[in-house]
Amino acid sequence: MIGRLNHVAIAVPDLAKGIATYAGALGAEVSPPLAQPEHGVTVVFVMLPNTKIELLEPLGEGSPIAKFLERSPEGGIHHVCYEVDDILAARDKLKAEGARILGDGNPRIGAHGKPVLFLHPKDFLGTLVELEQA
Ligand code: CO
Repeated sequence: MIGRLNHVAIAVPDLAKGIATYAGALGAEVSPPLAQPEHGVTVVFVMLPNTKIELLEPLGEGSPIAKFLERSPEGGIHHVCYEVDDILAARDKLKAEGARILGDGNPRIGAHGKPVLFLHPKDFLGTLVELEQA
């Protein structure tokens, strides 16, 4: 059911430092920072030939990554995002398998303007999984 790896998201306490690490030491192409107040993050995209890495820095009150960074102050892998062709069909299949969908169970428009869902980490090997309708 899942298709391409769309991105791996890494939460960082300091975006400038994250950019310097990826653009400098790792020699990657990194997009300019993009504030996404509706998602509570500022994001940059690290463009790789086969996928993207997103560096997420908390933005504003109650950022969804604030608690994660309390537990992992150096930063860390926050979620992986897989593409699906039909997000409602994917959700219904996962529900039937007993997987828990976060939030109200309905897709919302994600950071890329496409419908996304998040799946409970306890059902997926301790990893927060995002599904995006490609
Ligand atoms: Co994501």
